[in-house]
Amino acid sequence: MNDTDERDQKKNMPKRFTSQTAASPSPIAEINSRYLADEQPLVTALAELADPGDSARAKVRDTASGLVAAVRRNKAKEGGLDAFLQQYDLSSEEGVLLMCIAEALLRIPDADTADRLIADKITSASWKDHLGESDSLLVNASTWGLMLTGRLLQFDEQWRLNPAQMLAKVASRAGEPVVRTAMRQAMRIMGHQFVMGRTIAEALDRSTNKDNREYRYSFDMLGEAALTAADAERYFDAYYSAIGEIGAAPRANDDDIFSAPSISVKLSALHPRYEFTQAERVLRELVPRVTGLAIHARDKGIALTIDAEEADRLELSLQVFERAFRDAAMTGYDGLGLAVQTYQRRAGDVFEFLDALARDTGRRIPVRLVKGAYWDTEIKHAQELGHSSYPVFTRKEHTDVSYLACARRALAAGESLYPQFATHNAHTLASVMHYAGSRRDYEFQRLHGMGEELYAEVIHEDKFSRPCRVYAPVGSHEDLLPYLVRRLLENGANTSFVNRIIDESVDVDDIVEDPISATREHEGRPHARIPAPAGLFGDERINSAGINLADDRVVAALLAEMEETLSRPISAYPLVSGEAMPGEEVASSNPANVTDQVGTTRLSTAEHVSTALSAAAAGQPAWDTTSAAERAAILDKAADLF
Ligand code: FAD
Ligand code: 2OP
Repeated sequence: MNDTDERDQKKNMPKRFTSQTAASPSPIAEINSRYLADEQPLVTALAELADPGDSARAKVRDTASGLVAAVRRNKAKEGGLDAFLQQYDLSSEEGVLLMCIAEALLRIPDADTADRLIADKITSASWKDHLGESDSLLVNASTWGLMLTGRLLQFDEQWRLNPAQMLAKVASRAGEPVVRTAMRQAMRIMGHQFVMGRTIAEALDRSTNKDNREYRYSFDMLGEAALTAADAERYFDAYYSAIGEIGAAPRANDDDIFSAPSISVKLSALHPRYEFTQAERVLRELVPRVTGLAIHARDKGIALTIDAEEADRLELSLQVFERAFRDAAMTGYDGLGLAVQTYQRRAGDVFEFLDALARDTGRRIPVRLVKGAYWDTEIKHAQELGHSSYPVFTRKEHTDVSYLACARRALAAGESLYPQFATHNAHTLASVMHYAGSRRDYEFQRLHGMGEELYAEVIHEDKFSRPCRVYAPVGSHEDLLPYLVRRLLENGANTSFVNRIIDESVDVDDIVEDPISATREHEGRPHARIPAPAGLFGDERINSAGINLADDRVVAALLAEMEETLSRPISAYPLVSGEAMPGEEVASSNPANVTDQVGTTRLSTAEHVSTALSAAAAGQPAWDTTSAAERAAILDKAADLF
C-alpha cells in the first residue's frame, strides 16, 4: 500500500477516538504529572516546605500538648460513642468485622446475600473479650446487644459464658433477617452521633442551641454517588431548597461571606455519571447545575463549598469548578470554594492551580484543607486496578506533612485564597496557628459529632479565640451509610488522632509527635507494609497491570497508540508451522459499529487443519524437549505481555 492509499484509507475510517482528550489534554491535566508520583522525593520536599524551624516546632508541640491535656480532661466525663469506637477499633478482629458488615450492607443489593454474610461473620468473632473491658455503659450494652439482638432477648448467664454461641443461636432462631434489621438499626443509632438533623429546618434550629451558637456552620445534604438521573435531581432539589432555607434563617449579625453560613455539595450527588470517562457529558450537564446552585447561594448571601471525593474524580472536579467559577454570574461573589485533600500526591499542584485561578479572575477562593476521607478505598482501588503506584501517601505522617506544607502555601497566597483548616488533630491545629501568627483571616472547621472538646478550647474567647465552622450533615438514614462508614473508619483507625487521644495508655508526647521529624526519621520512605500495587501478591505472582483511565495524559497516549495501530490495515490469517495459509479474505468489522471495517480475516479451512495436525504428528522436537520450567516461563511472559 502506498502513502496515498494509506491516507485515503485513514480518511475513510470512522473517527473512533475523537474525544478532546485524545488530541489535547486540558491544562489541568498538568496537575496529573504527580498523580502517582514517587512518594519519597515528594514528601522529602514537602517536609522542607512545612518546616518552620526547630524552635518553632518545639513551641507547636507545647501548644498541642496543652490542647491534648485539656481534651482529655473534658473527655473524662464522657463514655459514649468514642468509647465504643475505641473498644471496637480497627486493630481488633471484631472492629474489622463490624466495619466489614456495615460496609458490605452498603453494597449488597438483596436481603438473602446480606443474611448469609451476617450468618457467616457474626459468629466468628470473640465479642466476649470486649465485655467489661470498658467502663462505658454504652460499650458493654452494645457488646451484648451487638446487632441489637439484646432488644429481642433476655440475657442470662449463658450469654455471659458463651456470647458467640448464643449469637449463633439467635441468628438461627430469630433468623438473619431480624439480625439484619437490627444491624441496620445499630448503624442508625451510631449515625445519630454524626447527623445534625433529619431536615434542614431541624439542623438550623439545633445550630442556634446554646452550645452550638458559637460556631459557624456548613450544612451538607447527605447523599452521594447518584446512580440515576432521578436521584441526581432529588439531590439537586434538596441542595437548592436547603440554600433557600439557610439564606432565610435569622443570623446573629450581618456577616461577610467568609463568616456567613455555607452549604457543602458533593458533585457525585448531582450527576449519575460523574466520572472521568464521561467528561464531555459531565461538563455539559453538571456545570450548569453547579452554577445554578452557586448563583442561588450568592443571592442568599451564603457560601458554597464543593467537597473532595475519590482521587479519580479530581481532574474532572477541577474542570467543573473552574468553569463554574469563571461564569460571569460569579463576578463579585467570593463564596464559591473547594475542598482539597492533602493525602493526595497532587495536593500541592491543586493549590497552585487555585492560586492561579484566583489571581486570574481577581477573586478570592475559599479553600478547605482536609486530609482526606477515602484513604482505604484509594489504596484498594489502586491495587485492584494494578496501577504503578498510589494516588495517596502510604504513611499517616506523610499526609500530615503534606497538610502542613499546603497550609503554609494557602496562607502565603494572601488575598487569593481564604484558608479553612478542617482538622481534629491538635498538632495540626497548633501548627496552623503558628504559621498564621497574628493573622486572623482564616478559620478552622470540624465535623459535627467530632472534636467538640478540642474546639471548646480553640473558640473560647479567653483561650485561642479562633473561629470554627462545623460541617453539619443533614438527612435521613437512607442516605447516611457511606458517610457513616467513613466516620467509623476515621474514628476506629488506631492512627487517627481522635482514636489515640481517648486511649489513656497513649502518651501525650506520642500523640503530638511532630510529623516532620517522623518523616525525616525514615527518610520519607513509603510504608513497608504497603507495597506498590504490582507487589500486592508478594512472591506468589506479580499483580496484573492496569491503565489509569482517569489520567488525561495516560488516556491521550493510549488513544494515540490505538489510533495509530488501527490506522494501519489489520489482517488475520491461520498460521501453521509459522507459515501463513492462503485463502479467501473477508472484511472484519467493529462489532460496536458494523460500518467500521477494521481489517480482513482469512478463515481456516479443513485443509489447514489437516496440515496442522500432520505437522503436530510429525513432532515438534524443539518444543517436546523444552522443560516444564521453560514452558512455564514462556506462558508467564505471554501473560505479562497481555
Ligand atoms: P488525623 O488523625 O490527624 O488524620 C487522619 C487522616 O490521615 C485520615 O483521614 C487520612 O486522610 C490520613 N491517613 C491515615 N492513615 C494514613 C496512611 N497510612 N497514609 C496516609 N494517610 C493516612 N474529607 C474528604 O475526603 N473530602 C471532603 O470534602 C472533606 N470535607 C471535610 C470537611 C470538614 C469540615 C472536615 C472537618 C473534614 C472533612 N473531610 C473531608 C474529612 C477529613 O478528610 C477527615 O476528617 C480528616 O482526614 C481527618 O483528619 P484529622 O486531621 O482530623 O485527623
Ligand atoms: C465526607 O463526606 C466530610 O466530605 C466528607 O466524608
